[in-house]
Amino acid sequence: MPGHVITVAQQKGGSGKTTVSANLAIGFLRQGKSVALVDIDPQGSLGRWFMTRLETEAGPVDQLEFATSSAWGITYEVRKLSEKNDIVIIDTPPKADSDLRPALRVADLVIVPVSVSHVDLWATEGVLDLARREDKEAMIVLNRGRPNTRLGTDVAKAAEKLMARIADATLANRVIYAEALGQGRGAAEGRKTPAQAEVDALTSEVAQALANG
Ligand SMILES: Nc1ncnc2c1ncn2[C@@H]1O[C@H](COP(=O)(O)OP(=O)(O)O)[C@@H](O)[C@H]1O
Ligand SMILES: [Mg+2]
Repeated sequence: MPGHVITVAQQKGGSGKTTVSANLAIGFLRQGKSVALVDIDPQGSLGRWFMTRLETEAGPVDQLEFATSSAWGITYEVRKLSEKNDIVIIDTPPKADSDLRPALRVADLVIVPVSVSHVDLWATEGVLDLARREDKEAMIVLNRGRPNTRLGTDVAKAAEKLMARIADATLANRVIYAEALGQGRGAAEGRKTPAQAEVDALTSEVAQALANG
């Protein structure tokens, strides 16, 4: 059976697409799965993360593969990668236009990170609309959460109005996410940390959604 395909998309830059992509990849590796990452963002942040990981030997790469693709080449790329890997994760540029369609079309699940520190919920509607038009399940992941703050509560409430599934698991605003991204690591690698628990919880929830899908 071909592997599952996850597309991480959100019109707003800086919402955490690359952070979620990299950390989910490590989360699935920790579950013993093989993972292919595909970067279709010309900025190439995920590629830098992967190359840093390779060059500095920041963590295991034997079950991890990386590719870049054009927006339109993604269908072919994913067909190849999903034959060999349990999970394929596609990181996308901050856009919600027709260029994004092929990446949505190949997805089993669309993950939409929403950064709590900037209210990017309005930007989220575009991606949710496109996902609906392709008949794809979308899951909002609240990122850079600030538990027990007014802003955190406001954003969570506003997200409910978008009529999309919101993951129970959230990623808090933590320096380790930014640090790990720059060092080619996942925030869940190494010591037991609160970030590790967050990433593992999100990975399990995503795995469950894929299994049910
Ligand atoms: N949960 C988080 N805690 C702290 N910093 C974060 C978190 N998520 C993202 N960041 C930081 O925010 C910036 C933008 O995140 P990134 O994943 O690159 O967003 P996008 O890919 O959507 O543009 C990066 O510098 C990243 O390290
Ligand atoms: Mg990015």
